[in-house]
Amino acid sequence: MHKLLIQREKKEYVKELDREVTITKRHEYFVSDIAKDFGTMHGTIKAKDLKAKDGSIVKSSQGTEFIVLSPTFPDMFKRIRKQAQTVMAKDLGLILAETGVGADSLAVDAGAGSGAMACFLARHVKKVVTYEIRDDFLENVKANIKLLGLTNVTLKHGDITKNVAEKNVDLFTLDLPEPWHTIPVVAKALKVGGWLAGYCPHVSQVMQLADAIRKDKRLQLIKCVELIQRDWVVDAQRSRPDNRGVGHTAFLVFARKFQS
Ligand SMILES: C[S@@+](CC[C@H](N)C(=O)[O-])C[C@H]1O[C@@H](n2cnc3c(N)ncnc32)[C@H](O)[C@@H]1O
Repeated sequence: MHKLLIQREKKEYVKELDREVTITKRHEYFVSDIAKDFGTMHGTIKAKDLKAKDGSIVKSSQGTEFIVLSPTFPDMFKRIRKQAQTVMAKDLGLILAETGVGADSLAVDAGAGSGAMACFLARHVKKVVTYEIRDDFLENVKANIKLLGLTNVTLKHGDITKNVAEKNVDLFTLDLPEPWHTIPVVAKALKVGGWLAGYCPHVSQVMQLADAIRKDKRLQLIKCVELIQRDWVVDAQRSRPDNRGVGHTAFLVFARKFQS
């Protein structure tokens, strides 16, 4: 069983500066074994306190207060081990919103990479089958599926450009260097009305993928989107865009199968 320990941010008014300053930044600790005492920068939390109910405030050996919480799916998702570059939440959310997949849907994904796309989809659809060509990535994907407690993800070792066993697929997600080579396989496996979502970091990939989609009479290119996320700093003194932030992730290419 896992737990989160949240040390709240502490601010104090400093007269000489005539403003509030941060005394302690918010710290978040992920506890993977609640049977053992847990060490933080501000002292140790006893194992019995880690079992306290959500929202309880517990004190470390140095007297620092922490809130105990059970991690949610996004808390766990942030902690998957990344062996290949993963897809960010903003792009995952848009794939769900555009394609409308849900509790009765079958999704096929390639390449599995670290399994992030497959695991996120699995939280929302009935079943996900994810294909990965590299055998040295498989164990990590399996470990990530286990960490998230998912039972509806099937990991297959194989080349997605060759063939897939799945039929009547509602959503096919592609995140691999040359997605255009998969189009005959994707078009065959999708059900009529099903969606293809291609995650393409480079514009050259968008062009080649769009070209391959256009040449397949079963598919129709719907749209290409780049979703830009801008984080803001909001506190007592400031309300403005953050100096740092998420840069470019990828372009999302959406297509749909309209005829068999
Ligand atoms: C950027 S990673 C995918 C990351 C994944 N979407 C995630 O969120 O964790 C691209 C993956 O595609 C795999 N790949 C490349 N060509 C493939 C193919 N023809 N069939 C299956 N997997 C392939 C690579 O080995 C690599 O692991």
